[in-house]
Amino acid sequence: MPRLTIVTRAGDEHVIDARAGYSVMEAIRDAGFDELLALCGGCLSCATCHVHVDPEWTGRLKPRSEDEDDLLDASDHRTEESRLSCQIELDDGLDGLRVTIAPED
Ligand code: FES
Repeated sequence: MPRLTIVTRAGDEHVIDARAGYSVMEAIRDAGFDELLALCGGCLSCATCHVHVDPEWTGRLKPRSEDEDDLLDASDHRTEESRLSCQIELDDGLDGLRVTIAPED
């Protein structure tokens, strides 16, 4: 069971237990963080699940798809560490992943 560190927009850190096979977005949502809107429910059409992945982890994730990349381009808060959390599928290799919820666009 991977554990994730979630940093809120206010800078508060929370460690949560997640389940392999689910997305980071689902883990954050199910843990009750309502500032991650995830309006499309993970259909890759809203970009309201935007997170910044800790630089230590960015190279350990699967690359962004073209669609994810295009959606992130619309954000004023895109950085090298930007990902859509609905597109990061959890497995035990991601135990310890740390992400920060990106500012709202
Ligand atoms: S939840 Fe909409 S793109 Fe991720």
